[in-house]
Amino acid sequence: MNTLNTLLENNKNWAERIERETPGFFEELSTQQTPEYLWIGCADSRVPANQIVNLPPGEVFVHRNIANVVVHTDLNCLSVIQYAVEVLKVKHIIVCGHYGCGGVKASLGDPKNGLVDHWLRHIRDVYRFHAIELDAINDSENRENRLCELNVIEQVANVSNFTTVLNAWQAGQELSVHGWIYGLEDGRLKDLNVDLFAPKK
Ligand code: CO
Repeated sequence: MNTLNTLLENNKNWAERIERETPGFFEELSTQQTPEYLWIGCADSRVPANQIVNLPPGEVFVHRNIANVVVHTDLNCLSVIQYAVEVLKVKHIIVCGHYGCGGVKASLGDPKNGLVDHWLRHIRDVYRFHAIELDAINDSENRENRLCELNVIEQVANVSNFTTVLNAWQAGQELSVHGWIYGLEDGRLKDLNVDLFAPKK
């Protein structure tokens, strides 16, 4: 209980500080949100979207799950993307993975984690698509990290295949999809340079 009290106390101090620095901040934000970015990232506690890119509340619409997977039948993720693109009209969708991802590592081992193993099957699929490249990497950590990168690249492709995204591009809406990866050891983001924009008409 003490821990939770600490959190509530932290919240009080945080809200007071923001209000002191920017009077009316919360009141103004409570009436609308106009984020330009949708962040699709890993649920890992070490990869908090807003903090990494140093953006305040209201600037990033966020969806996180284990190993930042975008699955064609995941109503949760689909709904987030649809709302972000069609209603909020975000301009950028960022799929952000991270090196040392526990989900990616677990997908390489024997399934023994229960329900989550089914989720991680999607990453096993990514491995299968890139088995020749990955099997040629001798160092297991390097292989895992490359799979983390390839997983982001695959999820960028999955985002770009959603009908919501295709429809937006068809309608000429400004929207691009990006793939980034975060280093737990240095706090730095790396652009994987797999940006996708609307196809030229
Ligand atoms: Co992760």
